[in-house]
Amino acid sequence: MYHELRERGTRPRACVIGHPVAHSRSPLLHGYWLKTLGIAGAYERADVPEPDFANFLRDLRRQGYVGANITVPHKEAAFRLVDRRDEAAQAIGAVNTVWYENDRLVGGNTDAYGFIAHLDASLPRWHETTHRAVVLGAGGAARAVVHALLARGIEIALVNRTLARAQDLAAHFSQWISAESFAQLPQRLGRADLVVNTTSLGMIDKPALELDLAPLKPAAIVYDIVYVPLETEFLRAARARGHRTVDGLGMLLHQAVPGFARWFGVTPSVTPKLKSLIESDIHAKTGLAGH
Ligand code: ATR
Repeated sequence: MYHELRERGTRPRACVIGHPVAHSRSPLLHGYWLKTLGIAGAYERADVPEPDFANFLRDLRRQGYVGANITVPHKEAAFRLVDRRDEAAQAIGAVNTVWYENDRLVGGNTDAYGFIAHLDASLPRWHETTHRAVVLGAGGAARAVVHALLARGIEIALVNRTLARAQDLAAHFSQWISAESFAQLPQRLGRADLVVNTTSLGMIDKPALELDLAPLKPAAIVYDIVYVPLETEFLRAARARGHRTVDGLGMLLHQAVPGFARWFGVTPSVTPKLKSLIESDIHAKTGLAGH
């Protein structure tokens, strides 16, 4: 796509579509890659209210875009509106990245990829010792995490405040998931090799996720997909107990890679420099420091 456009002398443009979208860090992220890779493209913000989303998406190419990221509140609408979905989007039920294949608009979901790519990059041998995971939460983020872990053959105990939501999610995915309430957590933690927080607890302005980590095996890995603050109370507590921890910011960075590659024809890298650029932005906007 990029090469075609470049031959025609057109500057390829992508955007993030949301409402509101001012807070999105995707322009900073993709802008950094465009600049450092020397690509004469652009990545913009598109603030599109819900009633206008279907028209905006239908006219994406006519507006000069090669594709887009889709964020809140449009991910489920995009799922319904695209011409074709990739396997992850199909399983997760939401689309966060769109691109064109010939004249067809394809919808993908890169959150599961981002989750696993960051884990692979942070702890390359995690898979050798991980058989069972506890996943906390049963919302959209949990669906991506569950999809990613099942693809790696991990057995999952899905723990959620509202048990019925965990049961629905478990039924949607596979027999390798059990749905549990928080009461069962101590027992489940004792058997877990990996614990993942996908709830909104621990985010800035939300209560902390307070779990008693005592039952956890010392070798267990603790992953929090929340990235503002960069180190949540939950991760800090896990780190203080000597667990290997994985933060949420890397997932955000890695989930952006496949979209960029499709739109601009170059696979970008997630580097410490990029991470510190986004960390500084979070710090500047929230006053919260990382670790
Ligand atoms: P997302 O799509 O980002 O995952 P979501 O669908 O709103 O967001 O899901 C938020 C998750 O955080 C849910 O699992 C929610 O639990 P419920 O299904 O019981 O609502 C969980 N969550 C939010 N606030 C919580 C709280 N105070 N205590 C426990 N879980 C909470």
